[in-house]
Amino acid sequence: MENELLKKIKNNNFKISVIGLGYVGLPLAVEFAKNGFEVYGIDIDKNKVKNINEGISYINDISNNELLDLVKKNKIKAFENYNILSEVDIIIITVPTPLSKTKDPDLSYVLNAVNNIKNHLKKGHLIILESTTYPGTTDEVIKPILEESGLKCGSDFFLAFSPERINPGDKIYKIKNTPKIVGGVDEISGKLAYEVYSKIIDSVIIVSSSKVAEMAKLLENTFRAVNIALANEIAIMCNILKIDVWEVVESAGTKPFGFMKFYPGPGIGGHCIPIDPIYLSWKMKTLNYNARLIEVASEINTNMPRYVVQRIADILNEYEMSIKGSKILILGVAYKRDVNDIRESPAIDIISLLSDKGAIVYYFDPYIPKIQIGDLEIESVELTKEVLKESDLVVLITDHSIFDYEFIYKNANLIFDTKNAFKNYSEKIYKL
Ligand SMILES: NC(=O)c1ccc[n+]([C@@H]2O[C@H](COP(=O)([O-])OP(=O)(O)OC[C@H]3O[C@@H](n4cnc5c(N)ncnc54)[C@H](O)[C@@H]3O)[C@@H](O)[C@H]2O)c1
Repeated sequence: MENELLKKIKNNNFKISVIGLGYVGLPLAVEFAKNGFEVYGIDIDKNKVKNINEGISYINDISNNELLDLVKKNKIKAFENYNILSEVDIIIITVPTPLSKTKDPDLSYVLNAVNNIKNHLKKGHLIILESTTYPGTTDEVIKPILEESGLKCGSDFFLAFSPERINPGDKIYKIKNTPKIVGGVDEISGKLAYEVYSKIIDSVIIVSSSKVAEMAKLLENTFRAVNIALANEIAIMCNILKIDVWEVVESAGTKPFGFMKFYPGPGIGGHCIPIDPIYLSWKMKTLNYNARLIEVASEINTNMPRYVVQRIADILNEYEMSIKGSKILILGVAYKRDVNDIRESPAIDIISLLSDKGAIVYYFDPYIPKIQIGDLEIESVELTKEVLKESDLVVLITDHSIFDYEFIYKNANLIFDTKNAFKNYSEKIYKL
Protein backbone atom coordinates (compact mmCIF):
# COMPACT_ATOMS: atom_id res chain seq x y z
CA MET A 1 0.00 0.00 0.00
CA GLU A 2 2.79 2.35 1.04
CA ASN A 3 4.58 2.19 -2.30
CA GLU A 4 1.39 2.91 -4.19
CA LEU A 5 0.67 5.96 -2.01
CA LEU A 6 4.30 7.12 -2.15
CA LYS A 7 4.18 6.94 -5.93
CA LYS A 8 0.97 8.97 -6.03
CA ILE A 9 2.51 11.62 -3.76
CA LYS A 10 5.77 11.77 -5.71
CA ASN A 11 3.79 12.14 -8.97
CA ASN A 12 1.58 14.89 -7.51
CA ASN A 13 -1.30 12.58 -8.21
CA PHE A 14 -3.18 12.78 -4.90
CA LYS A 15 -6.31 14.41 -3.57
CA ILE A 16 -6.47 15.87 -0.16
CA SER A 17 -9.15 16.59 2.40
CA VAL A 18 -8.85 19.12 5.23
CA ILE A 19 -11.27 18.58 8.10
CA GLY A 20 -12.07 21.75 10.07
CA LEU A 21 -11.84 24.92 8.00
CA GLY A 22 -10.97 27.53 10.61
CA TYR A 23 -7.91 29.69 11.26
CA VAL A 24 -5.64 26.70 10.62
CA GLY A 25 -7.60 24.57 8.13
CA LEU A 26 -8.63 27.20 5.59
CA PRO A 27 -5.13 28.67 5.02
CA LEU A 28 -3.75 25.10 4.75
CA ALA A 29 -6.43 24.11 2.22
CA VAL A 30 -5.69 27.28 0.23
CA GLU A 31 -1.94 26.58 0.25
CA PHE A 32 -2.41 23.06 -1.18
CA ALA A 33 -4.91 24.39 -3.74
CA LYS A 34 -2.55 27.20 -4.77
CA ASN A 35 0.05 24.53 -5.49
CA GLY A 36 -2.32 22.80 -7.89
CA PHE A 37 -3.78 20.06 -5.69
CA GLU A 38 -7.49 19.33 -5.48
CA VAL A 39 -8.65 20.04 -1.95
CA TYR A 40 -11.94 18.95 -0.43
CA GLY A 41 -12.68 20.75 2.80
CA ILE A 42 -15.08 19.40 5.39
CA ASP A 43 -16.66 21.48 8.14
CA ILE A 44 -19.69 20.97 10.37
CA ASP A 45 -20.39 24.70 10.16
CA LYS A 46 -22.90 25.18 7.29
CA ASN A 47 -22.08 28.87 6.94
CA LYS A 48 -18.36 28.26 6.49
CA VAL A 49 -19.06 25.61 3.83
CA LYS A 50 -21.43 27.97 2.01
CA ASN A 51 -19.00 30.90 2.23
CA ILE A 52 -16.08 28.89 0.90
CA ASN A 53 -18.06 27.55 -2.02
CA GLU A 54 -19.06 31.15 -2.84
CA GLY A 55 -15.45 32.32 -2.53
CA ILE A 56 -16.08 34.38 0.61
CA SER A 57 -13.23 34.29 3.12
CA TYR A 58 -13.79 34.74 6.86
CA ILE A 59 -10.07 34.69 7.70
CA ASN A 60 -8.10 37.96 7.51
CA ASP A 61 -5.02 36.29 5.99
CA ILE A 62 -7.00 34.89 3.01
CA SER A 63 -8.51 37.36 0.55
CA ASN A 64 -11.85 36.83 -1.20
CA ASN A 65 -10.13 37.14 -4.59
CA GLU A 66 -7.64 34.43 -3.81
CA LEU A 67 -10.33 32.06 -2.54
CA LEU A 68 -12.79 32.77 -5.33
CA ASP A 69 -10.11 32.15 -7.94
CA LEU A 70 -9.35 28.70 -6.46
CA VAL A 71 -13.05 27.83 -6.18
CA LYS A 72 -13.63 28.78 -9.82
CA LYS A 73 -10.68 26.61 -10.88
CA ASN A 74 -12.28 23.71 -8.93
CA LYS A 75 -9.22 23.48 -6.69
CA ILE A 76 -11.23 23.93 -3.48
CA LYS A 77 -14.67 22.64 -2.64
CA ALA A 78 -16.23 22.44 0.80
CA PHE A 79 -18.64 19.85 2.20
CA GLU A 80 -20.70 19.37 5.33
CA ASN A 81 -20.41 15.59 5.35
CA TYR A 82 -17.58 13.12 5.11
CA ASN A 83 -18.69 11.10 2.03
CA ILE A 84 -16.02 12.73 -0.13
CA LEU A 85 -13.32 10.89 1.85
CA SER A 86 -13.78 7.86 -0.41
CA GLU A 87 -12.23 9.95 -3.21
CA VAL A 88 -9.19 11.32 -1.39
CA ASP A 89 -5.77 9.95 -0.43
CA ILE A 90 -4.67 12.32 2.33
CA ILE A 91 -6.82 13.51 5.24
CA ILE A 92 -5.61 16.32 7.49
CA ILE A 93 -7.49 17.07 10.73
CA THR A 94 -7.50 20.69 11.94
CA VAL A 95 -10.45 20.80 14.35
CA PRO A 96 -10.43 22.65 17.70
CA THR A 97 -8.83 21.23 20.86
CA PRO A 98 -10.16 23.52 23.60
CA LEU A 99 -10.47 23.01 27.34
CA SER A 100 -13.66 21.84 29.01
CA LYS A 101 -15.40 23.94 31.70
CA THR A 102 -13.33 22.07 34.30
CA LYS A 103 -10.11 22.97 32.39
CA ASP A 104 -9.46 19.47 31.10
CA PRO A 105 -8.57 18.72 27.45
CA ASP A 106 -11.70 18.51 25.33
CA LEU A 107 -10.92 16.05 22.55
CA SER A 108 -14.56 15.72 21.51
CA TYR A 109 -14.05 17.52 18.15
CA VAL A 110 -11.05 15.34 17.30
CA LEU A 111 -12.89 12.17 18.35
CA ASN A 112 -15.93 13.16 16.30
CA ALA A 113 -13.76 13.74 13.23
CA VAL A 114 -11.83 10.48 13.77
CA ASN A 115 -15.01 8.41 14.20
CA ASN A 116 -16.35 9.90 10.96
CA ILE A 117 -13.07 9.10 9.19
CA LYS A 118 -13.23 5.53 10.53
CA ASN A 119 -16.59 5.06 8.79
CA HIS A 120 -14.99 6.04 5.46
CA LEU A 121 -11.52 4.61 5.98
CA LYS A 122 -10.04 2.74 3.01
CA LYS A 123 -6.76 1.09 2.19
CA GLY A 124 -4.11 3.63 1.23
CA HIS A 125 -5.42 6.55 3.31
CA LEU A 126 -2.89 8.74 5.13
CA ILE A 127 -4.37 10.60 8.10
CA ILE A 128 -2.49 13.48 9.68
CA LEU A 129 -3.58 15.22 12.88
CA GLU A 130 -2.57 18.89 13.12
CA SER A 131 -4.73 19.91 16.09
CA THR A 132 -2.55 20.63 19.13
CA THR A 133 -2.88 17.93 21.76
CA TYR A 134 -1.06 16.06 24.55
CA PRO A 135 1.64 13.45 23.79
CA GLY A 136 0.16 10.07 22.99
CA THR A 137 -3.10 11.24 21.40
CA THR A 138 -2.27 10.12 17.86
CA ASP A 139 -0.75 6.79 18.85
CA GLU A 140 -2.83 5.79 21.86
CA VAL A 141 -6.22 7.42 21.19
CA ILE A 142 -6.66 7.86 17.43
CA LYS A 143 -4.92 4.75 16.09
CA PRO A 144 -7.07 2.25 18.06
CA ILE A 145 -10.28 4.00 16.91
CA LEU A 146 -9.24 3.85 13.26
CA GLU A 147 -8.20 0.21 13.62
CA GLU A 148 -11.74 -0.64 14.80
CA SER A 149 -12.47 -0.49 11.04
CA GLY A 150 -10.54 -3.75 10.65
CA LEU A 151 -7.73 -2.02 8.72
CA LYS A 152 -4.20 -2.08 10.12
CA CYS A 153 -2.15 1.07 10.72
CA GLY A 154 1.27 1.02 9.05
CA SER A 155 0.23 -1.40 6.30
CA ASP A 156 -3.40 -0.68 5.25
CA PHE A 157 -3.54 2.98 6.27
CA PHE A 158 -1.03 5.45 7.69
CA LEU A 159 -1.15 7.91 10.56
CA ALA A 160 1.00 10.88 11.61
CA PHE A 161 1.01 14.03 13.71
CA SER A 162 2.26 17.37 12.41
CA PRO A 163 1.87 20.39 14.67
CA GLU A 164 0.48 23.56 13.13
CA ARG A 165 2.65 26.62 13.64
CA ILE A 166 0.57 29.21 11.77
CA ASN A 167 0.81 32.68 13.27
CA PRO A 168 -2.35 34.54 12.14
CA GLY A 169 -1.63 38.10 11.01
CA ASP A 170 2.10 37.43 10.48
CA LYS A 171 3.31 39.25 7.37
CA ILE A 172 6.66 37.41 7.16
CA TYR A 173 6.12 33.83 8.26
CA LYS A 174 3.45 32.06 6.23
CA ILE A 175 2.77 28.36 5.73
CA LYS A 176 5.42 27.99 3.00
CA ASN A 177 8.37 29.47 4.88
CA THR A 178 7.59 28.17 8.38
CA PRO A 179 9.47 24.89 8.94
CA LYS A 180 7.11 22.00 9.69
CA ILE A 181 7.66 19.03 12.01
CA VAL A 182 6.18 15.60 11.19
CA GLY A 183 6.19 12.43 13.24
CA GLY A 184 4.52 9.18 12.24
CA VAL A 185 3.13 6.53 14.58
CA ASP A 186 5.44 4.28 12.52
CA GLU A 187 8.35 5.01 10.23
CA ILE A 188 6.52 4.74 6.93
CA SER A 189 3.64 6.99 8.10
CA GLY A 190 6.17 9.68 9.04
CA LYS A 191 7.91 9.36 5.69
CA LEU A 192 4.63 9.66 3.75
CA ALA A 193 3.57 12.73 5.74
CA TYR A 194 7.01 14.24 5.12
CA GLU A 195 6.55 13.79 1.37
CA VAL A 196 3.09 15.41 1.43
CA TYR A 197 4.16 18.57 3.27
CA SER A 198 7.35 18.84 1.21
CA LYS A 199 5.07 19.64 -1.73
CA ILE A 200 4.07 22.98 -0.21
CA ILE A 201 6.56 23.80 2.57
CA ASP A 202 10.23 24.77 2.12
CA SER A 203 11.57 22.91 5.14
CA VAL A 204 10.02 19.76 6.66
CA ILE A 205 11.66 18.10 9.67
CA ILE A 206 10.91 14.45 10.30
CA VAL A 207 11.10 13.27 13.92
CA SER A 208 11.14 9.74 15.31
CA SER A 209 7.53 9.50 16.50
CA SER A 210 4.17 11.25 16.66
CA LYS A 211 4.76 11.71 20.42
CA VAL A 212 7.92 13.73 19.81
CA ALA A 213 6.02 15.94 17.35
CA GLU A 214 3.14 16.40 19.83
CA MET A 215 5.54 17.28 22.66
CA ALA A 216 7.59 19.67 20.48
CA LYS A 217 4.47 21.76 19.86
CA LEU A 218 3.69 21.85 23.58
CA LEU A 219 7.27 22.88 24.36
CA GLU A 220 7.01 25.77 21.86
CA ASN A 221 3.81 27.12 23.34
CA THR A 222 4.75 26.44 26.97
CA PHE A 223 7.98 28.36 26.31
CA ARG A 224 5.86 31.31 25.12
CA ALA A 225 3.41 31.11 28.03
CA VAL A 226 6.16 30.88 30.68
CA ASN A 227 8.21 33.74 29.20
CA ILE A 228 5.15 35.97 28.83
CA ALA A 229 4.33 35.22 32.48
CA LEU A 230 7.87 36.26 33.42
CA ALA A 231 7.48 39.51 31.48
CA ASN A 232 4.11 40.10 33.15
CA GLU A 233 5.53 39.57 36.62
CA ILE A 234 8.48 41.83 35.82
CA ALA A 235 5.91 44.49 34.76
CA ILE A 236 4.12 44.18 38.11
CA MET A 237 7.45 44.46 39.95
CA CYS A 238 8.52 47.45 37.82
CA ASN A 239 5.28 49.25 38.65
CA ILE A 240 5.96 48.81 42.37
CA LEU A 241 9.56 49.99 41.85
CA LYS A 242 8.39 52.89 39.60
CA ILE A 243 10.55 51.70 36.69
CA ASP A 244 9.43 51.66 33.05
CA VAL A 245 9.19 47.94 32.19
CA TRP A 246 9.27 48.62 28.45
CA GLU A 247 12.61 50.37 28.73
CA VAL A 248 13.88 47.48 30.87
CA VAL A 249 12.90 44.87 28.24
CA GLU A 250 14.40 46.92 25.40
CA SER A 251 17.66 47.46 27.23
CA ALA A 252 17.98 43.79 28.27
CA GLY A 253 17.23 42.96 24.62
CA THR A 254 20.48 44.58 23.51
CA LYS A 255 22.29 41.48 24.77
CA PRO A 256 23.09 39.56 21.59
CA PHE A 257 23.09 36.08 23.19
CA GLY A 258 21.23 34.25 25.97
CA PHE A 259 18.24 36.58 26.01
CA MET A 260 15.09 36.86 23.94
CA LYS A 261 12.64 39.74 24.29
CA PHE A 262 9.17 38.95 25.62
CA TYR A 263 6.77 41.77 26.37
CA PRO A 264 4.18 42.08 29.12
CA GLY A 265 0.53 42.64 28.26
CA PRO A 266 -3.03 42.65 29.58
CA GLY A 267 -3.20 38.83 29.58
CA ILE A 268 -2.92 36.08 27.01
CA GLY A 269 -5.54 34.97 24.53
CA GLY A 270 -6.20 32.95 21.42
CA HIS A 271 -6.72 29.26 20.95
CA CYS A 272 -3.10 28.28 21.70
CA ILE A 273 -0.96 29.95 24.36
CA PRO A 274 -3.48 29.88 27.24
CA ILE A 275 -4.66 26.35 26.41
CA ASP A 276 -1.81 24.20 25.09
CA PRO A 277 0.36 24.16 28.26
CA ILE A 278 -2.71 22.98 30.19
CA TYR A 279 -2.95 19.97 27.86
CA LEU A 280 0.57 19.05 28.96
CA SER A 281 0.01 19.64 32.69
CA TRP A 282 -3.23 17.61 32.50
CA LYS A 283 -1.43 14.69 30.87
CA MET A 284 1.32 14.87 33.50
CA LYS A 285 -1.28 14.86 36.31
CA THR A 286 -2.56 11.53 34.99
CA LEU A 287 1.01 10.28 35.51
CA ASN A 288 1.26 11.75 39.05
CA TYR A 289 3.57 14.59 38.04
CA ASN A 290 2.76 18.19 38.87
CA ALA A 291 3.98 20.56 36.12
CA ARG A 292 4.64 23.43 38.56
CA LEU A 293 6.10 25.99 36.17
CA ILE A 294 3.10 25.67 33.85
CA GLU A 295 0.68 26.11 36.77
CA VAL A 296 2.45 29.25 38.06
CA ALA A 297 2.76 30.79 34.58
CA SER A 298 -0.89 30.11 33.88
CA GLU A 299 -1.90 31.71 37.19
CA ILE A 300 0.15 34.87 36.52
CA ASN A 301 -1.18 35.23 32.98
CA THR A 302 -4.79 34.53 33.97
CA ASN A 303 -4.61 37.20 36.68
CA MET A 304 -3.39 39.95 34.33
CA PRO A 305 -6.90 41.21 33.45
CA ARG A 306 -7.54 41.68 37.21
CA TYR A 307 -4.24 43.50 37.52
CA VAL A 308 -5.21 45.78 34.61
CA VAL A 309 -8.52 46.59 36.31
CA GLN A 310 -6.68 47.35 39.56
CA ARG A 311 -4.37 49.73 37.66
CA ILE A 312 -7.42 51.38 36.05
CA ALA A 313 -8.86 51.95 39.53
CA ASP A 314 -5.53 53.47 40.68
CA ILE A 315 -5.33 55.81 37.67
CA LEU A 316 -8.92 57.02 38.09
CA ASN A 317 -8.29 57.45 41.80
CA GLU A 318 -5.50 59.96 41.05
CA TYR A 319 -8.16 62.13 39.39
CA GLU A 320 -10.67 61.59 42.18
CA MET A 321 -12.76 59.28 40.06
CA SER A 322 -13.90 55.73 40.67
CA ILE A 323 -14.51 52.86 38.29
CA LYS A 324 -18.19 53.09 39.14
CA GLY A 325 -19.77 55.64 36.84
CA SER A 326 -16.62 56.34 34.79
CA LYS A 327 -16.79 56.20 31.01
CA ILE A 328 -14.11 53.80 29.84
CA LEU A 329 -13.29 53.20 26.17
CA ILE A 330 -11.47 49.95 25.40
CA LEU A 331 -9.35 50.05 22.25
CA GLY A 332 -9.02 46.62 20.65
CA VAL A 333 -10.72 43.47 21.85
CA ALA A 334 -9.09 40.90 19.52
CA TYR A 335 -6.66 38.66 21.41
CA LYS A 336 -3.76 40.10 19.42
CA ARG A 337 -2.83 42.70 16.83
CA ASP A 338 -4.44 42.64 13.37
CA VAL A 339 -6.63 39.54 13.82
CA ASN A 340 -10.42 39.18 14.06
CA ASP A 341 -10.30 36.47 16.74
CA ILE A 342 -11.54 37.09 20.30
CA ARG A 343 -11.11 33.58 21.68
CA GLU A 344 -9.80 33.76 25.27
CA SER A 345 -9.11 37.48 24.74
CA PRO A 346 -8.21 39.30 27.99
CA ALA A 347 -10.31 42.25 26.75
CA ILE A 348 -13.45 40.22 27.43
CA ASP A 349 -12.46 39.64 31.08
CA ILE A 350 -11.47 43.29 31.49
CA ILE A 351 -14.77 44.59 30.07
CA SER A 352 -16.70 42.15 32.19
CA LEU A 353 -14.82 43.07 35.41
CA LEU A 354 -15.25 46.80 34.73
CA SER A 355 -18.99 46.40 34.01
CA ASP A 356 -19.41 44.42 37.24
CA LYS A 357 -17.84 47.33 39.09
CA GLY A 358 -20.31 49.78 37.55
CA ALA A 359 -18.21 51.40 34.80
CA ILE A 360 -19.82 52.58 31.57
CA VAL A 361 -17.68 50.50 29.21
CA TYR A 362 -17.66 50.55 25.42
CA TYR A 363 -15.10 49.46 22.87
CA PHE A 364 -13.72 50.10 19.42
CA ASP A 365 -12.24 47.33 17.28
CA PRO A 366 -12.37 47.58 13.48
CA TYR A 367 -12.12 43.78 13.20
CA ILE A 368 -14.75 42.82 15.77
CA PRO A 369 -18.15 44.46 15.11
CA LYS A 370 -19.79 42.99 18.21
CA ILE A 371 -19.02 40.88 21.25
CA GLN A 372 -21.15 38.77 23.52
CA ILE A 373 -20.42 38.70 27.24
CA GLY A 374 -22.92 36.45 28.99
CA ASP A 375 -26.32 37.84 28.02
CA LEU A 376 -24.83 41.20 27.12
CA GLU A 377 -24.24 42.02 23.46
CA ILE A 378 -21.98 45.05 22.89
CA GLU A 379 -21.36 46.64 19.49
CA SER A 380 -18.13 48.41 18.59
CA VAL A 381 -18.52 52.21 18.69
CA GLU A 382 -17.11 54.43 15.97
CA LEU A 383 -13.83 56.03 16.92
CA THR A 384 -14.78 59.71 16.67
CA LYS A 385 -13.33 62.80 18.36
CA GLU A 386 -16.49 63.00 20.48
CA VAL A 387 -16.25 59.42 21.72
CA LEU A 388 -12.63 59.99 22.73
CA LYS A 389 -13.30 63.33 24.39
CA GLU A 390 -16.31 62.00 26.31
CA SER A 391 -14.33 59.06 27.75
CA ASP A 392 -12.79 59.53 31.20
CA LEU A 393 -10.18 56.92 30.33
CA VAL A 394 -9.09 55.18 27.14
CA VAL A 395 -7.55 51.74 27.72
CA LEU A 396 -5.50 50.26 24.91
CA ILE A 397 -5.69 46.46 25.02
CA THR A 398 -4.89 45.42 21.43
CA ASP A 399 -2.38 47.44 19.40
CA HIS A 400 -3.86 47.03 15.90
CA SER A 401 -1.61 48.53 13.22
CA ILE A 402 -4.46 50.49 11.64
CA PHE A 403 -5.22 52.53 14.75
CA ASP A 404 -4.49 56.23 14.25
CA TYR A 405 -2.44 56.71 17.41
CA GLU A 406 -1.87 60.43 16.79
CA PHE A 407 -5.64 61.03 16.49
CA ILE A 408 -6.35 58.99 19.63
CA TYR A 409 -3.65 60.78 21.62
CA LYS A 410 -4.82 64.23 20.54
CA ASN A 411 -8.44 63.65 21.53
CA ALA A 412 -8.28 61.38 24.59
CA ASN A 413 -8.27 62.77 28.13
CA LEU A 414 -6.28 59.98 29.74
CA ILE A 415 -4.78 56.82 28.25
CA PHE A 416 -3.80 53.56 29.92
CA ASP A 417 -1.55 51.78 27.45
CA THR A 418 -1.06 48.06 28.12
CA LYS A 419 1.04 47.53 24.97
CA ASN A 420 3.46 50.47 24.81
CA ALA A 421 1.74 51.54 21.60
CA PHE A 422 2.04 55.19 22.63
CA LYS A 423 5.77 54.98 23.26
CA ASN A 424 6.38 58.25 21.41
CA TYR A 425 4.07 60.21 23.70
CA SER A 426 4.41 60.92 27.38
CA GLU A 427 1.83 63.28 28.87
CA LYS A 428 -1.47 61.81 30.03
CA ILE A 429 -0.21 58.28 29.24
CA TYR A 430 -0.07 55.58 31.88
CA LYS A 431 1.84 52.44 30.92
CA LEU A 432 1.47 48.89 32.13
N1 LIG B 1 -5.45 29.47 15.52
C1 LIG B 1 -4.14 29.32 15.62
O1 LIG B 1 -3.39 30.29 15.54
C2 LIG B 1 -3.50 27.95 15.79
C3 LIG B 1 -2.12 27.82 15.63
C4 LIG B 1 -1.53 26.58 15.78
C5 LIG B 1 -2.31 25.48 16.11
N2 LIG B 1 -3.67 25.61 16.28
C6 LIG B 1 -4.44 24.42 16.58
O2 LIG B 1 -5.18 24.04 15.42
C7 LIG B 1 -6.45 23.49 15.78
C8 LIG B 1 -7.58 24.25 15.10
O3 LIG B 1 -7.58 25.59 15.55
P1 LIG B 1 -8.34 26.75 14.78
O4 LIG B 1 -7.86 28.02 15.40
O5 LIG B 1 -8.21 26.57 13.31
O6 LIG B 1 -9.84 26.45 15.20
P2 LIG B 1 -11.18 27.06 14.52
O7 LIG B 1 -12.22 26.99 15.56
O8 LIG B 1 -10.87 28.36 13.86
O9 LIG B 1 -11.51 26.03 13.35
C9 LIG B 1 -11.88 24.72 13.58
C10 LIG B 1 -12.98 24.35 12.59
O10 LIG B 1 -13.29 22.97 12.79
C11 LIG B 1 -14.70 22.81 12.58
N3 LIG B 1 -15.09 21.54 13.19
C12 LIG B 1 -15.26 21.23 14.50
N4 LIG B 1 -15.55 19.94 14.64
C13 LIG B 1 -15.57 19.39 13.41
C14 LIG B 1 -15.79 18.10 12.91
N5 LIG B 1 -16.03 17.08 13.73
N6 LIG B 1 -15.75 17.90 11.57
C15 LIG B 1 -15.48 18.92 10.73
N7 LIG B 1 -15.25 20.18 11.14
C16 LIG B 1 -15.28 20.41 12.47
C17 LIG B 1 -15.29 24.04 13.20
O11 LIG B 1 -16.59 24.29 12.71
C18 LIG B 1 -14.28 25.12 12.77
O12 LIG B 1 -14.63 25.71 11.55
C19 LIG B 1 -6.49 23.54 17.30
O13 LIG B 1 -6.05 22.32 17.82
C20 LIG B 1 -5.48 24.62 17.66
O14 LIG B 1 -4.93 24.45 18.93
C21 LIG B 1 -4.28 26.82 16.09
